[in-house]
Amino acid sequence: MNWTGLINHFEEYLPVTSKTPRLTLHEGNTPLIHFPHLSEELGIELYGKVEGANPTGSFKDRGMVMAVAKAKEDGSSTVICASTGNTSAAAAAYAAKAGMNAIIVIPKGKVALGKLAQAIMLGAEIVEIDGNFDDALRIVKNVSEKLPITLVNSVNPYRLEGQKTAAFEIIEQLGGKAPDYLCIPVGNAGNISAYWKGFKEFNDAKQTGLPKMFGFEAEGAAAIVQDRIIAEPETVATAIRIGNPASWKLAVAARDESNGRIGSVSDDEILAAHKLLPAREGIFAEPGSCASIAGVIQQVKEGTIAKGSKVVAVLTGNGLKDPETAVNHLKVDPVSLPNDEKIISDYIEKAVTA
Ligand code: F0G
Repeated sequence: MNWTGLINHFEEYLPVTSKTPRLTLHEGNTPLIHFPHLSEELGIELYGKVEGANPTGSFKDRGMVMAVAKAKEDGSSTVICASTGNTSAAAAAYAAKAGMNAIIVIPKGKVALGKLAQAIMLGAEIVEIDGNFDDALRIVKNVSEKLPITLVNSVNPYRLEGQKTAAFEIIEQLGGKAPDYLCIPVGNAGNISAYWKGFKEFNDAKQTGLPKMFGFEAEGAAAIVQDRIIAEPETVATAIRIGNPASWKLAVAARDESNGRIGSVSDDEILAAHKLLPAREGIFAEPGSCASIAGVIQQVKEGTIAKGSKVVAVLTGNGLKDPETAVNHLKVDPVSLPNDEKIISDYIEKAVTA
């Protein structure tokens, strides 16, 4: 298939007009991969929607292509966002492609290395603050109201419009029917809200069924689970280190309307899933992404996800986004040997026969 991006492919479901620029980095059309080993262990039919295969390595490209195209259509020359890293990479990339400027406001010391590298190379104006994502979002919201700058966080409705297309793709990839469960990490809660919108729209148009929406926050940032704002959110999964999700109400609606659940997973559960997924299934996803896999494992154990169910876990970002967590937290020490073929060969022989 000659894939030319989301705006072209899903035009009839998106708020595009003849004036909307056909902006694209060929985002979307990401793989839905069956995970046979984890499926067997868990007694379910498990798939991963690999959003790390998007151009900047996360699902944010789906929302950003729409938000930046609409900003361009409206005559804006600059976009701004707060970010834990992925939104800023996507904003910078689409702004570059559209010939616009991107200003990103990020929590100092809490953005994974790969994401920071992207923001730098993609030419964004980077502002680091001594505060967390929630502080940054409050500030950029206020700034964008005062200045002629377009806010492209997920409070911009075009973001959710773009992101809902992942639900369309999942239905198509499963042969025209929604899965039983959709498991997804929750940070600012835009993505779970976007997926639910997408599932409902396709169901209305084509009776494709509805999944139960299962969202997972990090335990140290579980505002929706605890039903209170977390002033100092903390988690190893910096992507979802958010204590006051902007789309809180929409996420709760997705949970309740779908008969789903929003739970939390601990950093230990996230790191275990972060290690298990690539080792068993060959897909390396960033820690925040793995909240979905950790959640699936937890909920199957608790019996909330029924055996035999068809489950899609959204893997929101590529593992290469956060090399430091992979190297630091998992304590994998590579074996160090001299440059001597015999010694290396003996070592490998022992390893394969062990
Ligand atoms: N997974 C990853 C890899 C993310 O980067 C994010 C959010 C989420 C999950 C949560 O999605 O916010 O829609 O509930 N990252 C934002 C950012 C906050 O700035 O990149 P959500």
